[in-house]
Amino acid sequence: MHTQVAILGAGPAGLVLSHLLSLHRVESIVLETKSRAYVESRIRAGVLEHGTAQLLCETGVGERLKNQGMRHEGINLGFSGVLHHINFAQLTGKAITVYGQHEVVKDLIAARTSSGGQILFEVADVSIDALSTNRPRVRFRHQGENRELTSDWLAGCDGSHGVSRTSLPPGALRIFEKTYPFGWLGILAEAAPSWEELIYSHHEDGFALFSMRSPSITRLYLQCKPDEDLTKWTDERIWENLERRLSFPGDKKVRQGRILQKGVTAMRSFAVEPMQYGRLFLVGDAAHVVPATGAKGMNLAVSDAWCLSRALDNFYSEGRTDLLESYSERCLRRVWKAQRFSWWMTSLLHRFDVNDAFELRRQLAELDYLGRKLCWSFLGG
Ligand code: FAD
Ligand code: DHB
Repeated sequence: MHTQVAILGAGPAGLVLSHLLSLHRVESIVLETKSRAYVESRIRAGVLEHGTAQLLCETGVGERLKNQGMRHEGINLGFSGVLHHINFAQLTGKAITVYGQHEVVKDLIAARTSSGGQILFEVADVSIDALSTNRPRVRFRHQGENRELTSDWLAGCDGSHGVSRTSLPPGALRIFEKTYPFGWLGILAEAAPSWEELIYSHHEDGFALFSMRSPSITRLYLQCKPDEDLTKWTDERIWENLERRLSFPGDKKVRQGRILQKGVTAMRSFAVEPMQYGRLFLVGDAAHVVPATGAKGMNLAVSDAWCLSRALDNFYSEGRTDLLESYSERCLRRVWKAQRFSWWMTSLLHRFDVNDAFELRRQLAELDYLGRKLCWSFLGG
């Protein structure tokens, strides 16, 4: 089998890349280790930045997003028991859309399969080689058979635990990494959202985040230990902590409901340079991971994919290689801005050490300073 662009991974990065390439009439084949049902129901990110939503709508995969996505003009920051609203629309003219990553994945898979795109799910034993030649190769098993796919270019969109980055020779990439002494315990609950927009809550007991997926489903997170044992978190303990950390003046409190899903996510910052090796390009989480606080991960993955699709389109339509050569440099500029922002949001809102009273006061002073700088409007006051 041969194709112009072989893509490893059917997450947002791989699917957006394949979708955009098809609009430019560049052929691709996507290989994915999980099943279609699995990737279409994997609960992950939920915030689309203006540019991401616009790209999906303008390229014909935004129908459900326009109907079901929830436009939020801003977010709330909670600290010292008070909610402060930051109105992005007023400050920047741009809003965010709350729409589950798995819904984006569903929309993209539907678009690819209905236009004859090839996505092979449940592939196994994936390995890559010949990256420095003009015919990189992927070997894998599919439906019990050993298969081989050669291509002009290879896109490693296989996430932070994929094979594309880890297959490269030692020293090919420089690694930048930071881990945080906490994780997030996330739940999905069958409950109508109590507030209209997200709440990022700084609390003495640890950070909490109130989010949503639809008018009847709430998404909530609690700061926890990075290796937290979920069995120690009964539903009662989760709700009790959420209620305490999301308690603000007024009659609203977090609405409870049946917990549909629970999971723990570690927080880390990770990036490699460059995002290219020979004919392999690293895209999205395969090249960089940001702590979830800034809601940047999926948006960065989409932005990398857009950047690579343009470069590949230029190569096939005009024979130009300059955009392919500058892919890594152009992406990394945005990646490091997002790394800084995500690290800053994470440092501002989480408790690093419950005994560090100085740090607590410093965070509160910074939140207060920030509030005055942005002229937040007081919610409900
Ligand atoms: P992935 O989505 O990880 O996709 C990679 C795909 O490759 C997967 O489907 C995987 O199965 C497949 N794969 C793995 N190995 C192989 C292989 N060898 N061969 C073929 N396929 C392979 N980001 C935001 O922007 N906003 C948020 O609000 C947000 N919240 C988050 C909350 C949580 C709890 C988590 C975990 C993440 C969150 N993120 C958020 C981050 C976001 O989900 C990721 O950044 C995003 O999934 C990256 O997309 P990707 O396509 O690069 O990687
Ligand atoms: C969600 C996740 C995030 O990481 C974030 O910053 C905001 C919202 C969510 O899952 O809804």
